[in-house]
Amino acid sequence: MPTQDAIASADDVSRRAHANTLLSPKFYSTDYTAMDRLDVNPVRAEWDAMLKEYEGDNNIDHFQRTPEFAAEAAALPDELRQEFLDFLISSITSEFSGCVLYNEIRKNVDNPDIKKLMTYMTRDESRHAGFINQSLKDFDLGVDLGNLKRTKAYTYFKPKYIFYATYLSEKIGYARYITIYRQLERHPDKRFHPIFKWFERWCNDEFRHGESFALIMRADPKLVSGLNVWWIRFFQLAVYATMYVRDHTRPTLHRAMGLDPEAYDYTVFRITSEISKQVFPVTPDIDNPAFRRGLERLFAISSAMADAKARGGLVGKLRRAGLALSGVATFARLYFLPVVRHDLPARIRMEAAW
Ligand SMILES: [Fe+2]
Ligand SMILES: [Fe+2]
Repeated sequence: MPTQDAIASADDVSRRAHANTLLSPKFYSTDYTAMDRLDVNPVRAEWDAMLKEYEGDNNIDHFQRTPEFAAEAAALPDELRQEFLDFLISSITSEFSGCVLYNEIRKNVDNPDIKKLMTYMTRDESRHAGFINQSLKDFDLGVDLGNLKRTKAYTYFKPKYIFYATYLSEKIGYARYITIYRQLERHPDKRFHPIFKWFERWCNDEFRHGESFALIMRADPKLVSGLNVWWIRFFQLAVYATMYVRDHTRPTLHRAMGLDPEAYDYTVFRITSEISKQVFPVTPDIDNPAFRRGLERLFAISSAMADAKARGGLVGKLRRAGLALSGVATFARLYFLPVVRHDLPARIRMEAAW
């Protein structure tokens, strides 16, 4: 992993989890009074059915470790271990980001529908984060989640931006976990760590979290029409581009699972776009060669940025400023590419069928 320092101590882990760069998972705060006013009555039948599923808690017994965890952690070669740790740290940071946000909303609203939903989603995300933390402990590492909650920077987002961003990150999280799970189901010899066996039932939680935001957004048609479509396009591109660049910095991890980062990312985009037709009237045209070139360019810029940062000094600084400008220009070109348009389906909810 040439672009980042090695992860060897609890301090390194903490620095990664606290990182506040374009690519690192963020913590969010929002307008709780506006959250309190949400009305899900227009989607009541589908909402109530979903809440019943949460109440059934079919993953209550799922996140239990087995002895194989510690043994397999000890056996990883160095480069793979570094990229796997990077993967675990960014995963735990995003899981815990959901946990903190949902819990804050829960505490700050009286609206019974939203309060109930947030209680269930907090439950799920805290299980997910805790489970990853146990795996980090096998490497004698771990994230002090209480400290992270108190000291990580928070980004304020209006509720609608929270909906676009979290909907997409829940669904892309589902698509990522299920794609890895299916690959390792076909090639069990490439499952270098047992945690991947947990991904199938795990990602059903993420799928359902995404469904919740889909219903909230469909309950208020303004959120998914008119000028807001430009915001949707922005968040879709930001989420896809971030994932693309981040995955391409972990070639060894993907190779170990028999995945090509390029093919893996496009599979994940395809699944996410397919699902997000339930709520968004547009999706990026991921088959447009200009879209593909744009993402490749963003990754090249990001790698060059890391090199310039490592070089330091005035030359490094100037180089980074120039690269930042071409990053913005590349993103803008991607943003204005034609998109694929769809009609929204009458029945909103989908099955996790991948
Ligand atoms: Fe999660
Ligand atoms: Fe989630």
